[in-house]
Amino acid sequence: MATKISTELLIIILNNFQSTQDLYSSMLVNRIWCKVTIPILWNLPLGQECCTDYTKLEKKALCIRTYISCMDARTRNLLVQNGFDLSSSPPQATFDYPSFTHKFIINNLVYFVSIHSMYSRKIISPHQDDNGSRILFREMCKLIIERCIFLDSFKMTVIIFFSGNFQNYSDLIGSIFKLPSASKVFKKLENFTSTIGDYKLIYPFYESLKLICDTILTMDLKLNSYFQVQLLAKLIRVQKRLENLSIFTNYSLDCNSLLWAIISQKETLKGLRLYSVNFCQLKRKLSPIGQFISLQELYFDNCVGLRNSNCLFLASSFTQLSSFHYFHSRYSNDVHPQEFIIKIFETAGANLKNIFLDSHSSHSTIAFDTFSAILNYCTKITKLTLHNLSSEQVIAIFNNNFNELRRFSFDCGEKRFDANELLYKMGENVPESLESMEIRMNYYNPWIFSADYLRKFFEGWCYKGGGVNKLIIIKRTERGQLCGFTLSDEHFKVIEEYGVQFYIEK
Ligand SMILES: *[C@@H]1O[C@H](CO)[C@@H](O)[C@H](O)[C@H]1NC(C)=O
Ligand SMILES: *[C@@H]1O[C@H](CO)[C@@H](O)[C@H](O)[C@H]1NC(C)=O
Ligand SMILES: *[C@@H]1O[C@H](CO)[C@@H](O)[C@H](O)[C@H]1NC(C)=O
Ligand SMILES: *[C@@H]1O[C@H](CO)[C@@H](O)[C@H](O)[C@H]1NC(C)=O
Repeated sequence: MATKISTELLIIILNNFQSTQDLYSSMLVNRIWCKVTIPILWNLPLGQECCTDYTKLEKKALCIRTYISCMDARTRNLLVQNGFDLSSSPPQATFDYPSFTHKFIINNLVYFVSIHSMYSRKIISPHQDDNGSRILFREMCKLIIERCIFLDSFKMTVIIFFSGNFQNYSDLIGSIFKLPSASKVFKKLENFTSTIGDYKLIYPFYESLKLICDTILTMDLKLNSYFQVQLLAKLIRVQKRLENLSIFTNYSLDCNSLLWAIISQKETLKGLRLYSVNFCQLKRKLSPIGQFISLQELYFDNCVGLRNSNCLFLASSFTQLSSFHYFHSRYSNDVHPQEFIIKIFETAGANLKNIFLDSHSSHSTIAFDTFSAILNYCTKITKLTLHNLSSEQVIAIFNNNFNELRRFSFDCGEKRFDANELLYKMGENVPESLESMEIRMNYYNPWIFSADYLRKFFEGWCYKGGGVNKLIIIKRTERGQLCGFTLSDEHFKVIEEYGVQFYIEK
């Protein structure tokens, strides 16, 4: 039966195998299966996320032996001269294993090389002799880049083990692009992740990539210097189909060029996440920027300067937005960018399905106008998360005919209120669509309500026994712990009667 499946189909099936164990088994079926499985299996060592279990890493590091078998005689000699014992890596391998690499996670190579160097050179600490492992690292990079056909994913993230080694290799990583075959290998890159902002020697990466590749779909980057921001802006500008971009930078850097580079991608961008990005220097140009016609997800965390009036033209270009998350900057002197946020709600209007607004760090309730904007413009909302509401605001939400609202998460800050009355009023107008409600409480202000008022709320929400698909979650707010909130047997009887799922976070 095995041979009746076409090779192409087999490749697709095997690519979906989740475990290496399954792949090993498929290798044993027959020669064809083996030939198809090997390339898939050998994309994994450098392409699959490593866990941080050291014992497992040690096992995975064994792949280096096989890669060394694929190195040419000159390189092998060089390793021997540097104290490597190659007896477990006989020359000439059956397959050209490095050629099967399509995803390259630099962290994996750092781990594997560090571990392999330690054992193969019989030294006690992986940091004892940095030069040997540096040479192995360099030769491994060369081997992969010279032999592999293409890379569709390249990633380097904050490192857990061997961070000293990583630092020691960072110039080598930066010079990968100087290898003659790099331009061919990186030409079709789709995913680029670099969350190491600190190593200056990696900077040339952006510079080189922009000359090579314009096909990136997803970028997830962290940047620490103005120079890096400038280079990244150039890399973004040349992209032809960038869909998802996530940038973490330092709020003290001028990001004007970066923001304009992002605007240049307005046709294709679907998701944009900005962390600590500074909007203060955003300058306007005379001509209108048009619309971000594909952008659905927008996420701001800790960004500053959004009060800059030049940001309003940006906000009014997010017409297709369906999801908006906003975490206010933790730098207390940055005022809440009310107009900007309102403009976003006004522009996206009924397209907005998911809103998350955090105002905790600004120590205020949601400003009146911002709140009204949600009620007025975002009528098709399905998921709403708001912080520090007054009880009047909670009632206003329930009275607003949000007839597609499915999930509502909120807290009532620290101001005292009558929870019985609130539940009663909520119960009078629960949106029929509401499936789950998450109530966050804090230490100072637990909700205190009677079983009777809980019943009144349930009556408005569902019929007796009809609450199986309804859920209430009681959580604590970020600050303080959940204290002083208790339910009696009476309460639990009501909960049972209506069948609503009730979950109290410990
Ligand atoms: C790129 O990243 C996305 C999301 O992280 C993932 O779903 C996709 O499979 C990746 N593509 C490649 C070619 O690695
Ligand atoms: C980009 O993000 C959008 C929205 O979250 C998602 O639908 C799409 O699959 C992502 N694209 C890639 C290439 O990961
Ligand atoms: C941001 O940059 C400033 C100076 O430009 C520096 O002092 C600060 O440590 C940086 N912050 C981070 C998180 O790197
Ligand atoms: C909630 O808003 C009030 C002002 O109405 C403010 O005093 C309080 O600090 C805010 N609470 C939090 C947790 O941000």
